[in-house]
Amino acid sequence: MSDAPYQVTGLKRGVTRYPNYDAAILGFRNYWYPAMRSSDLGHKPVALTLFGEKIMFYRDQGRACALEDRCPHRGIRLSIGKQEFPGTFTCRYHGWTFDLKTGLVVAALTDGPKSPVCGRAGVVVYPVEERAGLVWIYHGESPAPPIDWDVPGELLHKDRAVGIRISDRPGDWRHAAENGFDEGHGKYLHRDSIFVTFQHPPAWVHSDVIAEDDGWITRSTKDFAFQDDYPGLGRWPKMRRWKTTKILSRASIRLPGTLRIHFGEWIHFEWYVPTTPGRHRYIQLAIKHARGLDALLFKLRYWTYLRWLFHGRFNDQDARVVEMMETPPEQLFGPDRSIIGWRKLAEKARVIAGGEPAAASAPPSRTETGSTQQFVSEES
Ligand code: FES
Ligand SMILES: [Fe+2]
Repeated sequence: MSDAPYQVTGLKRGVTRYPNYDAAILGFRNYWYPAMRSSDLGHKPVALTLFGEKIMFYRDQGRACALEDRCPHRGIRLSIGKQEFPGTFTCRYHGWTFDLKTGLVVAALTDGPKSPVCGRAGVVVYPVEERAGLVWIYHGESPAPPIDWDVPGELLHKDRAVGIRISDRPGDWRHAAENGFDEGHGKYLHRDSIFVTFQHPPAWVHSDVIAEDDGWITRSTKDFAFQDDYPGLGRWPKMRRWKTTKILSRASIRLPGTLRIHFGEWIHFEWYVPTTPGRHRYIQLAIKHARGLDALLFKLRYWTYLRWLFHGRFNDQDARVVEMMETPPEQLFGPDRSIIGWRKLAEKARVIAGGEPAAASAPPSRTETGSTQQFVSEES
């Protein structure tokens, strides 16, 4: 495969059992991805790079929208511009003005009201929706599938308290996803995390990967031990008096890279949104179905320690190893059945049959304006 430098699986570079997955350097197309907090999007453009594409997010008259962040005139970032007229956005350099719904140029201010550029150039407009306090963007072929296919049902519950933490991290999004669903490391890497001070993780767990509703696969525990004898070495780990809770978590993952961990009365989600090759945007969300005082108390709990100790320190331990991971080559062991299950699932990523290669609107002169990049699959 031509993209071998970014291959993540297997014994040898250039040889893969997961060709779709190994080619998905910038993620899978045809899915909705969370991009940012709704509360962070206002009347000031937010410039992000997602899926290798420069994208400008903006809120116009209350509605979130996203445009290709490149003016077709001279190629500067649109996001340094401003709004001159409602429903439009104007490039800072020469004043080309784009309709926020269609992406088409509706005025080229410095060429007068009759400029022939009007209607003949434009930028890509991405489908955008807001759910559960997040702005979601669709990346792929048209027509976009319903967003509810990709927003986990738990997030749509009407009584909910939500805490969100977003960071841009080094590391391939696939290494991050594999780390998220990895069975083994929770029992070793995180053992000394402050978050589990009073919890006793198992020494080992043997699990199967089972398919569940709505596209999730889940690690299902078959056998486990909290302490065991390692021949010739001794017992491990030490049982500590203060570790009063024994934990077995229930982790699930689904495409395009959404992890779900049930912690009893609340649920943790995380997404690994590819930004540029070898980097990703790490979006974490803690949710409890609650209202009134219960919801308020969960928010308080989130801001006093869950955000700091779990979304922060605990998952920063993962950030360190994800950044370091270099595969292939790799030598998998039993607990990596979870990773293999995820790779198999990823091979069946969504295809939009007969889909048009475009975002919501394709400006008529996009080929001339050089913005075809968005229309080419990363997998080609
Ligand atoms: S570069 Fe945008 S108007 Fe000239
Ligand atoms: Fe972890």
